[in-house]
Amino acid sequence: MLDVAVIIASIREGGTGTMVGRWFLERIERRADMNVDVIDLGRTPLPPLQPARCGDTADAARGLAARIGAADGFVVVTPEYNHAYPAALKLAIDSVRHEWAAKPVGFVSYGGRSGGLRAVEQLRLVFAELHVVSLRDTVSFHLERDRFDAAEPDGADSRGGTGGADDAAKVMLDHLAWWATTLREGRATRPYIR
Ligand SMILES: Cc1cc2nc3c(=O)[nH]c(=O)nc-3n(C[C@H](O)[C@H](O)[C@H](O)COP(=O)(O)O)c2cc1C
Repeated sequence: MLDVAVIIASIREGGTGTMVGRWFLERIERRADMNVDVIDLGRTPLPPLQPARCGDTADAARGLAARIGAADGFVVVTPEYNHAYPAALKLAIDSVRHEWAAKPVGFVSYGGRSGGLRAVEQLRLVFAELHVVSLRDTVSFHLERDRFDAAEPDGADSRGGTGGADDAAKVMLDHLAWWATTLREGRATRPYIR
């Protein structure tokens, strides 16, 4: 079994992130090869933006680091705000260091016409710095009327495919499984050099 942390990036109470996250969790939880840890940033203690002293490591950061360290791979469910991803997600990412390394990350994004893809492209740059392998194939939702219909979501995959959101989620999770398994074996065989 692979341990996968699903990070829900939106902290807006009652926001679309709750619905998109629920839709995705239903898909990942059907898989027989993955255990899921849901890290909902709206309900997860995060370190303060302004710590009392530079270098202080808050308990919240230690708790988050332990959960990231226990995972074999990650999926980030993120909206797009002003062509980027939410500030709480950056705080969470920056609060953890080595625990991210040599693991894969996949993306489920949503937003206006861009389907959150500009947020995803920025996340690829950030995760590269942390030695995280970002998956090519994504799931994205174009919410032009700020609406998400979980029964029949209007999703897209990053290959321009017509299979819709269900197929896109399967492709992304199959790739996540390949990378998570391969990198777990690699880390066990020889220590990763950062
Ligand atoms: C501050 C803010 C900025 C936004 N900027 C963008 C944007 O640049 N591009 C886009 O496609 N959608 C943008 N949106 C729309 C959101 O991506 C969309 O409403 C999304 O469903 C919000 O998710 P949430 O309810 O989980 O926070 C923005 C929304 C907010 C609140």
